[in-house]
Amino acid sequence: MHPLTSRNTSPLTGTVIVPGDKSISHRALIFGAMSIGETRITGLSQGEDVQDTASALVAMGAGITTQDGVCLVEGRGIGGLMEPATAVDLGNSGTAVRLLMGVAAQQPIKVHFTGDASLSSRPMARVMTPLKQLGIQFDARDDDLLPLSVQGPEKLLPIRYTLPVPSAQVKSAILLAGLAAPGETAVIEKERTRDHTERMVTYFGGDIHSETGGKGEHIITVKGQPELKAAPVDVPGDPSQAAFVVVAALLCPDSDVTVRNVCLNTLRDGLFVTLREMGANLEYLDERNNGGEPVADIRVRSSQLHGIEVPADRAPSMIDEYPVLCIAAAFATGQTVMKGLAELRVKESDRLAVMAEGLKACGIKVAEQPDGLIIDGGTSAPGGATVATHLDHRIAMSFLVLGLVSDQPVTVDDGSPIDTSFPGFADLFNGLGADISNVERKAS
Ligand code: S3P
Repeated sequence: MHPLTSRNTSPLTGTVIVPGDKSISHRALIFGAMSIGETRITGLSQGEDVQDTASALVAMGAGITTQDGVCLVEGRGIGGLMEPATAVDLGNSGTAVRLLMGVAAQQPIKVHFTGDASLSSRPMARVMTPLKQLGIQFDARDDDLLPLSVQGPEKLLPIRYTLPVPSAQVKSAILLAGLAAPGETAVIEKERTRDHTERMVTYFGGDIHSETGGKGEHIITVKGQPELKAAPVDVPGDPSQAAFVVVAALLCPDSDVTVRNVCLNTLRDGLFVTLREMGANLEYLDERNNGGEPVADIRVRSSQLHGIEVPADRAPSMIDEYPVLCIAAAFATGQTVMKGLAELRVKESDRLAVMAEGLKACGIKVAEQPDGLIIDGGTSAPGGATVATHLDHRIAMSFLVLGLVSDQPVTVDDGSPIDTSFPGFADLFNGLGADISNVERKAS
């Protein structure tokens, strides 16, 4: 356990770069490993989650090295990976294990996946159910949990599958396995989720297209067994990490912060859309395209927010941002209503329960519902608590943002999970004028 405390601070000012997008980083490594030739990746996230994906791919035979901050991946082609000699540990990362289940199944090998206590409590049947239809075999603890092993078949079968829950991880696992199947594999989404996998199939020379069906559903069809070719990837900044800086700058009075080179894919920008509706002063500067993804610099200045009802159908485009939105809501006048969030119960922690518990401990009025939260905000909040983070990086970072504006400091019981996604989080904030340290809050 590594407690961290944040204290009410001066304005936040300056320009920062946040870690490379985690979703794109995992996929850049995976697509590099599935391609022929050497893929050069710049801006790769240095978080533990992405490093775990890299180690897993190395264990399966991909060549991955780093030279002068550039990650070089020597690909083995689709279906060209090998059976690892030992179990593959994916730490805290749901994206890593779910995507790699699809990758491992591309060849007739057996891969045994393990993870930490948080990952070992997260549901895996959502990925195994469709992958079994492709002919892949699994052996999982209690049929749904890690540790589990994946056995790829001699020949995969293409499938057509409608996602029962909106999940880019499940969609991606099916598309990745489908890349090794003959013919066309289709995934149907009722609600659109992040499309980084689809963009990368095209970018690496594969054949994928999407269309809207008669009921408004989104149908993505990938053609199997292409030869993917290595291509350079420049990973843009992660909007889910920029979120913490943006919310902190909105709430700390007199702040003026610019976050450079943030991915603004419209399937990821729901938090920024929502904050603007709440009255946030956010400007997108120098909007441009970077390696197939829209990016911009975000300038944020302190703003008095007001509560709103966040549309439930916006959830997939901001699914990881609700913890920090709760902090913004605590400082927004009136009520903020967040609905349609049952998926938050199966993230790194049960984020609805854990946020509600932490907010209450910090003196903020919150009502927990089966699939949402309602927060009554104001212009100040007491803080002054130690919050349990349950091995969840986003819970830890959200409450550290709260402590920058609450009356009393806020301590998180364990800041170490922050390294899974945002190494250097405290230093980056302190460089902007914040006060985050490992000196614990004095009991009040
Ligand atoms: C991710 C998809 C989302 C998100 C996760 C990253 C991805 O999970 O919460 O942090 O990179 O595909 P779900 O697919 O479970 O919604």
